[in-house]
Amino acid sequence: MTDRANLEGQIAVVTGASRGIGKAIAKELAAQGATVVLNYNGSEAKADEVKHEIVEKGGCAQCMQCNVADYEGCEAFIKAVIEQFGRIDILVNNAGITKDGLLMRMSEEDFSDVIDVNLKGTFHCIRFASRQMMKQRSGKIINLASVVGISGNAGQVNYAASKAGIIGMTKSAAKELASRGITVNAVAPGFIETEMTEVLSDKLKEEMRGQIPLARMGHPEDVAKAVAFLASEHASYITGQVLQVDGGMVM
Ligand code: NAI
Repeated sequence: MTDRANLEGQIAVVTGASRGIGKAIAKELAAQGATVVLNYNGSEAKADEVKHEIVEKGGCAQCMQCNVADYEGCEAFIKAVIEQFGRIDILVNNAGITKDGLLMRMSEEDFSDVIDVNLKGTFHCIRFASRQMMKQRSGKIINLASVVGISGNAGQVNYAASKAGIIGMTKSAAKELASRGITVNAVAPGFIETEMTEVLSDKLKEEMRGQIPLARMGHPEDVAKAVAFLASEHASYITGQVLQVDGGMVM
């Protein structure tokens, strides 16, 4: 059962919140009482739908556009959040893309695009939000990594590098920010049913399922529950960790 008092009065920012895992995280944090800033890049209408779903259930949410790959854009975005809400208690760096391909055929552009959104986007938001969290002397930062950042994956050198980078960034930021009362953790999902994985062939999906001890793909809500835990007071003595939500896929 969801406890509304868990995150009551807290301000949470979720990047890439218009669909998939980000949407599930935003809904879960709102259900636990947080006011959620729904960041989106392209689709305002989809972000607005998420906002309405949250509001219909008695929660609070607000949509804000920002391309996380844009350093100055992120500075303006975080500034706008602080101007409107006065603080940031929770930052979830969820926005991410894939541009898969074999190493020998991967263009420099496809490599850079994935690093720019996944890795630099995470850095940009932490860079500006942590300044506010340091003033508050409190904050919870949760970064979406991936099990492929731990295990590697053929056809994903760009994506796996970005996610391994997020793990290193999480641990380094955790060490830097701990003395200011800020925790930084990562969640590493395995194979989750979203539009990102929908594009994979049925054959590949079947093969992947065969590698999961719990014998099913994960749901976005499985990841959202783990993020909400790390955002809560229940996780106040946990920092610099990578929590795998993968049905046992990578051990
Ligand atoms: P998705 O593709 O369904 O959603 C990604 C969201 O990020 C979208 O709302 C998109 O608009 C947003 N986004 C993309 N570029 C952006 C930018 N430059 N600025 C702001 N927002 C941007 O993906 P999904 O599956 O929901 O993944 C969410 C996160 O979880 C990603 O970081 C992904 O790498 C990670 N993940 C997903 C797994 C899966 O199996 N679906 C497995 C492991 C990690």
